[in-house]
Amino acid sequence: MTKLRVNGTDHSVPIDPDRSLLYVLREELRLTGTKYGCGEGECGACKVLVDGVAVRACQTPVGEAVGRSIVTIEGLAQGEHLHPVQQAFVEAGAFQCGFCTSGMIIAAVSLLARSSQPSVEEIRAAMDGNLCRCGGYLRIIDAVQRASRLSSGAGGAVP
Ligand code: FES
Ligand code: FES
Repeated sequence: MTKLRVNGTDHSVPIDPDRSLLYVLREELRLTGTKYGCGEGECGACKVLVDGVAVRACQTPVGEAVGRSIVTIEGLAQGEHLHPVQQAFVEAGAFQCGFCTSGMIIAAVSLLARSSQPSVEEIRAAMDGNLCRCGGYLRIIDAVQRASRLSSGAGGAVP
């Protein structure tokens, strides 16, 4: 067993070096908001933040995440208050089936942490590794722009 810090809490999990971070999050910790899409690094549905940077959990051996801060979609809201990016996705209607949404939101949080007012081109580039089978890309871009404005209006960067 080893400790994994997820959403601000230390969890004891069995470490099998062959396991992906995605497997441990979903199967050991039951954090099923992070989705298994392709399992091959192509779709972005499995993205989580590791030390604030979006990574594909299906391609990340869990051993690489030990000692680092992992944030999943379940860790973004503060109690009843949605994270600004979550709020923006709701306001923009930026999901249909929702399967890609947690990965999209995690990618957007990572982008806005390094670029608080990204251009459309920057948004497209940052979200390039996230696929939406429902084709909701225009609304997703709108949502990221809204999140940027929400955060600016609140007088601070996206947490
Ligand atoms: S499930 Fe990880 S990139 Fe598709
Ligand atoms: S909303 Fe269905 S895959 Fe994106």
